[in-house]
Amino acid sequence: MLHETPSALAPVLLGVSCLCLAEAFRLGTHARPFRSSAPSHPPSLSPCLSHPSSFITSHAATGTQIAPTDAERTAHEPADTDAALDPLGVDEQQRLKSDAEKYLLNNYGARNLLLTEGRGATVYDASGKAYIDFGAGIAVNALGHSDLGWYSALMDQASKLSHTSNLYLTQPQIDLAKKLVQLAPFASKVFFCNSGTEANEAAIKFARKLALSKARKGLLGKAKKVNFVAFEKSFHGRTMGALTVTSKKKIRDPFAPLMGGDVTFCPWNDLKEAKRAIDGDTCAVFVEPVQGEGGVNPADVGFLKGLRELCDKSGAVLVFDEVQCGLGRTGKLWGHQHAGVSPDIMTLAKPLAGGLPIGAVLMTEEVASAIEPGDHGSTFAGNPLVCAVANYVVNAVSSPEFLSGIESKGRHLRERLAAVEGGRIKDTRGEGLLIGVVFDSADEVNKIKQTCEDRGLLVLTAGEGQVVRLAPPLNIPMEQLDRGIDILEHAIKELG
Ligand SMILES: Cc1ncc(COP(=O)(O)O)c(C=O)c1O
Repeated sequence: MLHETPSALAPVLLGVSCLCLAEAFRLGTHARPFRSSAPSHPPSLSPCLSHPSSFITSHAATGTQIAPTDAERTAHEPADTDAALDPLGVDEQQRLKSDAEKYLLNNYGARNLLLTEGRGATVYDASGKAYIDFGAGIAVNALGHSDLGWYSALMDQASKLSHTSNLYLTQPQIDLAKKLVQLAPFASKVFFCNSGTEANEAAIKFARKLALSKARKGLLGKAKKVNFVAFEKSFHGRTMGALTVTSKKKIRDPFAPLMGGDVTFCPWNDLKEAKRAIDGDTCAVFVEPVQGEGGVNPADVGFLKGLRELCDKSGAVLVFDEVQCGLGRTGKLWGHQHAGVSPDIMTLAKPLAGGLPIGAVLMTEEVASAIEPGDHGSTFAGNPLVCAVANYVVNAVSSPEFLSGIESKGRHLRERLAAVEGGRIKDTRGEGLLIGVVFDSADEVNKIKQTCEDRGLLVLTAGEGQVVRLAPPLNIPMEQLDRGIDILEHAIKELG
C-alpha cells in the first residue's frame, strides 16, 4: 500500500539525500554522477549541495545516521572506472526477466538486455558487462548517462519544487522558453509538452487553429485548409494525429480510420511531387530536416528551400519535426540550419532534458496569435523539475565549442566508416552524430547488431531494418567513439 510522505518528513528526507550526496562527493566515492566532457554551465546549487557542511551540522541535530559506512564506501568504485557498481545475481536477473514477460505489455517485442547503470557513454547490463552506447536511448541522452551537471540540476530543483501544474508560473519554464526563442530566431512563443508525439500533435492543432482563425477573418475564400502533406519514410509519432502524418503503413493501418482531412505522402526530396500536392487546401506540411526512423535521410537544401516557398505561396504552415535531429545532434543547433531555411513551427523532444520526458513546440508570432486560452494544455508539461534540467542541457549543447565538437566527431566517424573495406557498406549518410550505415538487408544488419552487442557496443537500426543507425551521446570522448567504431568494423568484417 502506498502512503503519502508526511510533509513534516520532507525536509528530513531531503536532508538525508543531500547529505548522502554531499558526503559522497567529499569522500570522492559517489559513483552515480559522471564528470563528462561537456562544457559545464553549473546551475546554482541549493545550499545543501553548495555548502554540505552547513547541512551536516543542521542535520546532525536530528541525530540521524546517514553517512555511508566504511563497507559501503569500499563497495563502490570511483566514478570514472570501467566497472559496473551494482551487478545483479543470476537469480535476480532471471526473476526480473520472467516478471517482465508476465507484467509488461508485449508492444516492444522481445527485449533481452537488462540495463542497470550508465556513466558517460557507457551502460552496464545486470551482470556488469559494459557497452559503449551508440544509441543514447534513441538520441535522448545528449550528455550521456549520469552527467554530473545534469544530476546537480535535477537534485537542486528537486530540493525546491518539482511540479505545480500549469495553473501557475515557474521560473525554470519561463527561462527555458526564453532561451529556446533566443536560440531559434524564427520563433516567438513556446508550448511545452511531454514527448515527441505530443509535440507533433500540438503542432497539428496549432496549424488547424491558424487556418480556422484565417477562415473567420474571411482570408481563405473557399479553401478548406484541413489537409496535410508529409513524406514517405516519415516518422512523427504514434498518437492518432501524429500517426496520421507518419508514413509507415505497418504502424498506421491497424488503427484506421485516423485523423480526418486528407494526408498526402510525397516521395522524399522530390520537390516536383510536393509542388503537385501542396495547394490552398493544405493546412500544414510536416518534414524532418533529417529523417531518423525512416533510415537517416537528410533533406536536400533545395528541397527544404522549395518547401518554404510552396508554403509561403499556399499559406500552409511549414512544420519542421526536429524531435530527433534537433538540439545539436547534426552538428548545428537545429537541423534546418544546414539549409538556411526557417519553419513556422518546430517540434523538439528527445534530447531536450537529456533523459527526462519533455517536448516543445516553437512557433512564429502568427501561429501563436491564433491560440487562445483553453485551446490546448497538459498537466505535467513543462514542470519546473524537467525544465530546470532542460535549461542545463540546452546551455551545455548550445555552446559553440560543444557544437563544433559534435561536427568534428561526426566527420571522424564518417571518415572511419569510409575506410572500412569489404564492400558490405552500401552508403553512409547523415549529419553530425546522427549517421546511417546502409547495408543490403535487415538480415545483415541484425547480425552486425548482435555481434556488436556481444562485443560491447549498442547500435540502433532504422529504415526497413537495413540501416545501422548511430546516435551516440553528443559528448562521447573521441577515444570511446573510436573504440565503438573498432567494434562495428569488426562486426561488419565478420559478415565475410
Ligand atoms: C522525428 C520524430 N518525431 C517524433 C517522434 C516521436 O517521439 P516520441 O517517441 O517521444 O513520442 C520521434 C521518435 O522517434 C521522431 O524520431
